[in-house]
Amino acid sequence: MTTQLKDKKGADTATLTYNGSSATLPIVRGTENETAIDIEKLRASTGLITLDPGYGSTGSCRSAITFIDGEKGILRYRGYPIEELAEKSNFLEVAWLLLHGELPTPAELQSFTSEITRHTMLHQDFDRFFDALPKDAHPMPVCSAAIGALTTFYQEPESEHQLHDTIIRLMAKMPTIAACSYKHSIGQPFMYPMNRLDYSSNFLRMMFGIPCEEYEVDPVLARVVDLLLILHADHEQNCSTSTVRMVGSSMANLYASIAAGISALWGSLHGGANQKVIEMLEQIEREEGSADKFLARAKDKNDTTRLMGFGHRVYKSYDPRAAILKKACGDVIERVGVSSRMLEIAMRLEEVALKDDYFVSRKLYPNVDFYSGVIYQAMNIPVNMFTVMFTMGRLPGWIAQWIEMRNDEHFRIARPRQIYVGSPKRAYVPASARGRSA
Ligand code: CMC
Repeated sequence: MTTQLKDKKGADTATLTYNGSSATLPIVRGTENETAIDIEKLRASTGLITLDPGYGSTGSCRSAITFIDGEKGILRYRGYPIEELAEKSNFLEVAWLLLHGELPTPAELQSFTSEITRHTMLHQDFDRFFDALPKDAHPMPVCSAAIGALTTFYQEPESEHQLHDTIIRLMAKMPTIAACSYKHSIGQPFMYPMNRLDYSSNFLRMMFGIPCEEYEVDPVLARVVDLLLILHADHEQNCSTSTVRMVGSSMANLYASIAAGISALWGSLHGGANQKVIEMLEQIEREEGSADKFLARAKDKNDTTRLMGFGHRVYKSYDPRAAILKKACGDVIERVGVSSRMLEIAMRLEEVALKDDYFVSRKLYPNVDFYSGVIYQAMNIPVNMFTVMFTMGRLPGWIAQWIEMRNDEHFRIARPRQIYVGSPKRAYVPASARGRSA
């Protein structure tokens, strides 16, 4: 493959030579100078496809939502650095930014917030939905099923107006569904939303309040929840977002696409890692706090153990979200006054790993999940709810990406190809003749 040749209009191209013939492929550049070879016409002109398991070198779309420079540890939503948004913004403002591309005016934010606040209740029949599920169900599949079930309560969005209502409903009902999935798992009655509270405070009250008692939301903890939601709000073409886009590309509706995204997020290599981090730290504590012993297992190729909350497909330096959360950890622990044993183990683990050649040479650094679990645990959020917290945060990103995909001038159903490595053509053998030696 040769690059940097120019086409007739002077644009850069790449030339692929194969089997005596060659194809000239356009070069596409993003606003931050990210560069790609456009292979859309490759198969038509050469008969070749590309092979990239895990899509490490494959761009699936052009997107104007989130920019990541993994080498430099940069994350921006719509051009705004995550550090600034984390410090100065709030989750609903960030959600609007992701959805609309610009920060809202005060009037837009007020109207968005008020609409979301007025749609927080679930249809009364949802009680029967929860009743049908086993008591000990993990809240992630419960959330995925509940979001999918919203399609049975509301029309499939067809017009712009209906799509708007769907977005409001999803954003408004997600914290209610999340809290109900927890209450269901512990057998407590559901708390109705309290619409004078802000998004995060309302969620905390629905999680921890009980109908027979007053529940005062700690504003410091509500702010930390808001911060966590901001940090999780989007992360370009990760596994769950790509799932949402892929499902939506078949013209499946927004509820169905988001339900699929929740399932993808649940896996332990993705959003489920935050739960695994705490399980790992607890295991280390049971083994008398030896970080070195655990690290040895994570490095051993014959052991499937991984250092959870470490490593990232895109970040090859410190995940900027982890840096923000590391600081927030200290604040929360000081506020709630709990033992910081988990934080101590996490920091010790990080310190040892960042000096270890195995992790250094592979550029493995803490990711967002490394410290978020420590914060959730300090706030008394049950371990199986950690990934649900991630889901609440990621929701506006998924929606923004789904809308962008549907409006993309290059929109096509997502349909990768493959290299077939199975059996060549062979004749069917009747059951009566199978298993006989020739
Ligand atoms: N512990 C030990 N070794 C690791 C780890 C880890 N956490 N992560 C990567 N490696 C090694 C891996 O074994 C491989 O080594 P080698 O080159 O000798 O075969 C090398 O580093 C490259 O790893 P990879 O699996 O090819 O990298 P990937 O980009 O496919 O995977 C990852 C990225 C996040 C799935 C992986 O780093 C991992 O499993 N991390 C632990 C799970 C985790 O924390 N997930 C949360 C990701 S951040 C939140 C989110 O976006 O969901």
